[in-house]
Amino acid sequence: MSEWRADFPALQGTMNGKPLAFLDSAASAQKPQVVLDKVMATLSGHYANIHRGLYEYSQRTTAEFEAVRGKVANFLNAKSENEIVFTRNSTEAINLVAHAWGQHYLHADDEVILTEMEHHANIVPWHLLRDLTGIVIKYIPVTQTGELDLSKLEGLLTKKTRLVSFVHVSNALGTINDAASIVAQVRAYNPDIKILVDGSQSAVHMPTDVQKLGCDWFVCTGHKLYGPTGVGVLWGRGEILAKTPPYQGGGDMIERVALHGIKYREPPQRFEAGTPPIVEVIGLGAAIDYMQGLGWDKITAHENALSRQLYGRLSARKDLRIIGTSPNRAGIVSFLMDGASSADVGMILDQCGVAVRTGHHCCQPLLGIFGVEGTIRASLALYSTEADIDALETGLDKARKLLA
Ligand code: ALA
Repeated sequence: MSEWRADFPALQGTMNGKPLAFLDSAASAQKPQVVLDKVMATLSGHYANIHRGLYEYSQRTTAEFEAVRGKVANFLNAKSENEIVFTRNSTEAINLVAHAWGQHYLHADDEVILTEMEHHANIVPWHLLRDLTGIVIKYIPVTQTGELDLSKLEGLLTKKTRLVSFVHVSNALGTINDAASIVAQVRAYNPDIKILVDGSQSAVHMPTDVQKLGCDWFVCTGHKLYGPTGVGVLWGRGEILAKTPPYQGGGDMIERVALHGIKYREPPQRFEAGTPPIVEVIGLGAAIDYMQGLGWDKITAHENALSRQLYGRLSARKDLRIIGTSPNRAGIVSFLMDGASSADVGMILDQCGVAVRTGHHCCQPLLGIFGVEGTIRASLALYSTEADIDALETGLDKARKLLA
């Protein structure tokens, strides 16, 4: 039993009359009561738009919002809170880099290296940029165990390589990539190559230290970190953000606007046009406080033990094929049931009160490597329990009897 499950009201509910076994936290995590309370208190207490009002409500909300920048900086071990840009989600953060930095600094024939393991959010923005600028996109291949074949990286790096962008933890397979080794290889080849790490799935499962990672940008998203939807984070190295033009134009990102000339604000406000996700950011702050209050040692001890159990129990079953068998893994397991479609299995699990994601997990190129269109994916969070895995196995037994 996770000692923290009781903190999450949505987990106390039932699904199809069964106790809920929520195994879809990689898609979006549930929210603890403290986050819900913070959101409600902000909206019902002293809510007002920020950075714009001299009155007390606006000043208080502004102070709470800006305090979260510091919390996020501390959470990611950024050098300064000015390196923290609030976006709508990880996807928008990657698009910001691709379009603001990419359109300015990348030109025809410049090379961008991604991996075959990427979520569509770290593929499509670079395709859009290629269509605009003529950049060339290359991929680090993935092996049949679902790991990056880093022996191929050296051969992909050339004098034209400008950027390497890769996922830290695969949302589809659970593989934890060796970020330190990738960064070291790239830096050894050419320290000027920029590096982006997609931490959408890693930031919730392990401590992040962007300075130690040695990358140039790191992205993550609030709703997978037990916070609200609608808020994402882009961390960028201060000197790079300072030399990056704005992504979107509007209120709050300017010093001065004249009819024929504009002076933009310094980062991070330069990249936050318009009214930001005020309540969502403040809610994210409460989520970070909650996680830090529990402590990484306890969170990772619980999740790692449960992750080993989930993987061990599913891989021991004769009726399943696991997709992604790396031993370096977070609490995410993808699998197929012999003789049954993933969607049918997912629907039977739903009837058993078990929530999993089925489909391509926004990773069509990756699943193509395994010759499959989609999988069933079970994913854990700090509130997950052994009983959730028991319910999954009971549901899988039922699915096998009915379908396979
Ligand atoms: N990217 C999220 C997932 O993997 C939505 O399910």
